[in-house]
Amino acid sequence: MGRIIIFTGKGGVGKTTTAAAHAVKAAKDGIKTLIVSTDMAHNLSDLFMKEIKEEPVEILNNLWALEIDSNYEMSKHYGSISEAFKKMLPIENEKDGEVMEDIVVFPGIEELFSLLKIKELYDQNIYDLIIVDCAPTGETLSLLKFPEIFSWYMEKLFPIGKVAIKVLRPITKVAFKLDMPDERALSDIEKLYVKLGKLQSLLKDREICSIRLVTIPEKMVVEETKRSYMYLNLYNFNVDGLYINRIIPEEINNRFFDQWKQIQRNYLDEINSVFSNIPIYKVKWYEVDINGVAGLERIIRDSLHDENIFKILKATVNEIFEKTEKGYRLNVYLPFTNKKDFDLFESGTDIIVKIGNFKRNIPIPNIIRKYSIASAKLNDDVLSIYFE
Ligand SMILES: Nc1ncnc2c1ncn2[C@@H]1O[C@H](COP(=O)(O)OP(=O)(O)O)[C@@H](O)[C@H]1O
Ligand SMILES: [Mg+2]
Repeated sequence: MGRIIIFTGKGGVGKTTTAAAHAVKAAKDGIKTLIVSTDMAHNLSDLFMKEIKEEPVEILNNLWALEIDSNYEMSKHYGSISEAFKKMLPIENEKDGEVMEDIVVFPGIEELFSLLKIKELYDQNIYDLIIVDCAPTGETLSLLKFPEIFSWYMEKLFPIGKVAIKVLRPITKVAFKLDMPDERALSDIEKLYVKLGKLQSLLKDREICSIRLVTIPEKMVVEETKRSYMYLNLYNFNVDGLYINRIIPEEINNRFFDQWKQIQRNYLDEINSVFSNIPIYKVKWYEVDINGVAGLERIIRDSLHDENIFKILKATVNEIFEKTEKGYRLNVYLPFTNKKDFDLFESGTDIIVKIGNFKRNIPIPNIIRKYSIASAKLNDDVLSIYFE
C-alpha cells in the first residue's frame, strides 16, 4: 500500500524545500518516490534546476517529479460540468453571463482537480511514496474541506436520482426557465461526485495519508499554523508532523540577530508546548538559499535523521462515539479553540460544528439518531457532545 505525505504551510515558509528534502531522502533510502507540486506557483523546476511538467520526470535514481497543471486537469476531465452549471442558471443577457461564469467556477475548484490527479497517481500504484508540495495553507484548507462542501452542494442540488431529473427536465424548463443538466454532464457530475468521495476517504485514511505543517518561529506564522492544525483536526485529517524552519543558529554572533534569537526562542517554546503531541523537526536558517540536491542534502544531514520520518507518526482517531449511561458521547479533537468560538447544531442526519468560517458536518450513525443533543463540553481540546 502506497503512502502520501502532504506538506503545507503559509507562503514562503519553506514547504517546497522541506517536501523536496524528504523526497530526496526517501529516494536515497531506496523508496520509490514521486514528488508532486499542486501549488500554482510551481517551484520544483527551479529547485531541481530541471524542466518539470505534467508527466513524471526522473530527477535521481528512485525519484520522479511532476507539476500538476490544474487548469489542464480540469478541462481534460470535466469540461462539460461548468457548462452544465451555467445552463442551469437563468441568464438574461450577456453581462449576466459573464457574472455567472465566475459564479459557476467554485472558488478553489481548479486546485481540487490537482488533488484528484494525486488520487489517480496513487491508484496507478507505481510509487511507494507520493510527496505533495501543496499550496499555502489557506488554499490547502479550502481544498481539503472542498470534497465535503461539494458533496453537500451536490446533495442539495441533486437529491433526486437521475431518472427523476430526466422526468423533471421538461417541467423545470417551463416553470422556472431553468435548464437541468443534460445527460452527458449529469454523468460527468455523478462521476465527479463519486471521485470526490473516494478522494476524501483517501486523504483521511490514517494508514495512507499524513499532513505535515511547515512553519517558522514568528508570530503571524505560528498563529496561522495553530489555526490550520485546529481546522485540519476538525476535518479529521491526520496531521503527524511539524517542521520549524529558518531557526537562527545559536553560534551566530551578530548584534542584529540578538533580539531575533530571543523572539525565535519564545516562539519555539510556544510551539513545543502546543504541538507536544506530534513530532517536531527543526531546520536552521542556512547562509544561502537552498538549491539543488546538494542543498537539500544539507537539510537531510542536519535535521531529518528520524528513521521513522516516512511512517505514520500519530494516529489518533478524532471522532469517537462512546456509549454512556443515558445515550452516547461523541468526542471530536479540536485543539486551540475557545468555548465561545464554536456553534453546534443538528441538521437532518448530521451534526454541524461551526468554528469561524469553517463548518464541519459529522454524519450521525443510525443508532444515535433517535437521541438528541443534551449538552456539549470542551475539555482538554476535546469537544464532547452528549446525546441523550
Ligand atoms: N532553512 C533555510 N535556509 C535558507 N534558505 C531557505 C531555508 N528554507 C527555505 N529557504 C529559501 O527560502 C525560499 C522559500 O522557500 P520555499 O521552500 O520555496 O517556500 P514555500 O514553498 O513555502 O513558498 C527559497 O528560496 C528557499 O531556498
Ligand atoms: Mg513552494
